[in-house]
This record gives sequence, structure tokens and C-alpha cells, in this order.
Amino acid sequence: MPVFTNIEDLKDTYRRRAPRMFYDYCESGSWTEQTFRDNSSDFDDIRLRQRVAVDMTGRSTASQMIGQDVSMPVALAPVGLTGMQNADGEIKAAKAAEAFGVPFTLSTMSICSIEDVAEHTTKPFWFQLYTMKDTDYTSRLIQRAKAAGCSALVITLDLQVLGQRHKDLKNGLSAPPKLTLSTMANLATKWRWGMEMLGTKRREFGNIVGHVDGISDTSSLGAWTNEQFDPALDWNKVAKLMEQWDGKVILKGILDAEDAKMAAKLGADAIVVSNHGGRQLDGALSSIRVLPSIMDAVGDDIEVHLDSGIRSGQDVLKALALGAKGTFIGRAFIYGLGAAGQAGVTTALEIIHKELDVSMALCGETNVANLGRQNLLVPKDFEGNWQG
Ligand code: GLV
Repeated sequence: MPVFTNIEDLKDTYRRRAPRMFYDYCESGSWTEQTFRDNSSDFDDIRLRQRVAVDMTGRSTASQMIGQDVSMPVALAPVGLTGMQNADGEIKAAKAAEAFGVPFTLSTMSICSIEDVAEHTTKPFWFQLYTMKDTDYTSRLIQRAKAAGCSALVITLDLQVLGQRHKDLKNGLSAPPKLTLSTMANLATKWRWGMEMLGTKRREFGNIVGHVDGISDTSSLGAWTNEQFDPALDWNKVAKLMEQWDGKVILKGILDAEDAKMAAKLGADAIVVSNHGGRQLDGALSSIRVLPSIMDAVGDDIEVHLDSGIRSGQDVLKALALGAKGTFIGRAFIYGLGAAGQAGVTTALEIIHKELDVSMALCGETNVANLGRQNLLVPKDFEGNWQG
């Protein structure tokens, strides 16, 4: 295995090993990709305050997310088509997360099914729900997640319609890939990926195929979304879904203080401040930039998590110091998975953990619970530059 010392290294190998179509799916934002870029560059604009001559022994990154013990407050985010990046990808990522002591979140749009992941893991994982027009199917999904012992339902609120991603449209993204000439030419150069894929039966959307009727094309995320996702989802329906689940609920995709207040009022256990990795509303603010206003609005009422843009332990540190209790990584673990399967996901987690631990020490802190504004230098206009 090549030597991976940072998340970019994993990405380089992933780019070489994964088919173009799936690399592009992971690595794209919607429309101009402005929000996708801002998610990273806004993290870069925050600087860290170095402190010295502080006893740095006995450091700990251990914490809790929604009351569950975690070895560091970094969960694996739900990512569609993970099992196309590397054969049986969801199972591999879930196993790596379990061994590392962090939560794994299975996407509705996964390749391995809920039951499949449950069968191959020993600890409960989280299930991410997209709500469908077919309410029976949605209810069945919720029941399946319950039966599989999932310990939280993560309801995504920012994808009732799909943001336009140019590369996916041009590539004709589907699972399994449709064999056009250009796809075949690209796949021919990805022998390692192909060999592993031939060794598994899991090549379609596992939570969908065999569980719904009357869908014209279950292989396409775009077609499936247009036909099936519920564009009428509103807060009343969210409340009903929460009743059906009757367990820990995380509402994901919150980017506005008013929406955060609604989520808190509904009694969710946590929110994820997220712009879906820049894949939905291009032009929206980065998650890290809106985090302070959301903390001001609901920080005392609900646990706040953050995703979108996290590629290092320093990014995790910055989110925690601005008030988040937990973070999610999506692309950062997919790079690891695509580069080296389960071992690559473990490497991604190790890299992030080490960066978080060492940066925390050099900031003069010994416990993630003590990170705060004292550790950061935030640009003056960072929070108040835009007005509604
Ligand atoms: C959601 O599933 C996405 O593709 O962003």
C-alpha cells in the first residue's frame, strides 16, 4: 500500500483507482460549485491560536454524539453509491467505523442494504432517510432500520429535488454503470476496481431494488429522485416521521437559524449544519460560516453537528471550537475507501484523529470538550458579511 500521510494522498490514489463516473459523482458540487469550494476555503480562512508551555499529557478526543460514546466526534456521513466506489463499500466503511469507535451512517441510496450492513457489523449504525412520495415504502424503510437495530434516524431535509450536477448528467451516472463506449474505455483502465466488483453481487441500490414496484429506472439517482422523492415534505411530515421512528433523530441539512429553531422545537436530538457538501443549493453559504449564527440561535436547546468541507483534523477542531458537538466526514472517507477499501477508511480516520490530537495539543488544549473560541482567529467579516 502506498504511504498515505494526509487525506489528499488518499484522494490521489482514489482518483486513479475508481471509475471516472463515480469519482466525478463524489468530487462534484452543483452548478458552478461555488458553495463546494467555499466549504473548504472558509475553513482555511480561520486560523488557530498557538499556546505554549501547557502540560499536554493525557490528551483525549473521546466524546459523545447524541449520548453515544465516540473515540472522536467524527461520524461517517451518509454517502450515496458508496458501494460503487469500492465493492461492498458500505460494509467495509461500517466495519472500519465500528473498529475505530465512531458512528457510521448508511444512506438510503446505498448499494449494500440496511440488512446487509447489519449482518456484517456488531454495533448499531445510523440510518439516513430520504422521504418518498410512496409513504408505505418510507414507512417500510423506517421499520427495516428499526429491525436492523439502527440507533439513530438521520432525516435529510435538503434534497427534495436534486441540485444539478453537470458531471453526473454528462457521465450518465447509474449503478451499475451503463456500458457505453466511453464508460467501457474508462473501466478497462480500472482493473483492480473491476476485479473486486466482479466478486460481489451488490451492484444496485440495495435498499430499493426488490422493495418497490413501478419505477422506470432504479439504476439512476437522478431518475429515482425525480420520480420518487417527496417534494411536499414539510415540518408536519417531519414530525410524523419522528413519531414513526420513536428513537434518536438527527435532522440533516440545516443552514438557517430559523430552520434550526424549528428542528429544536420539534424535539430532534441533533441537527447537522450542512449544505450537502455543496451538492444542492449552489450559492448557499458554507456550513462553517453559518455555524456561529446557528449556535447563537439554538446552541442551548439542541446538539449541533456540522458537515460539508471537512478534510482534516484541523477542520474538525475549528468546527468544535465554534460550538459543534460533532462533525461528519463524507468525501474524506470515500477517498480512503476508493484508495484502499476498508484499510483506507481506517487510514482516513487515523489521519484525521492524529491531526485533531496534535493540533489540539499545539493550541494548548488537552480535551476536545474544552475547545472554544479562545483557540481561533476568525476573520472579522466571517459571520456578519451577508444580510438577509
Ligand atoms: C445524495 O444522495 C447526493 O448525491 O448528494
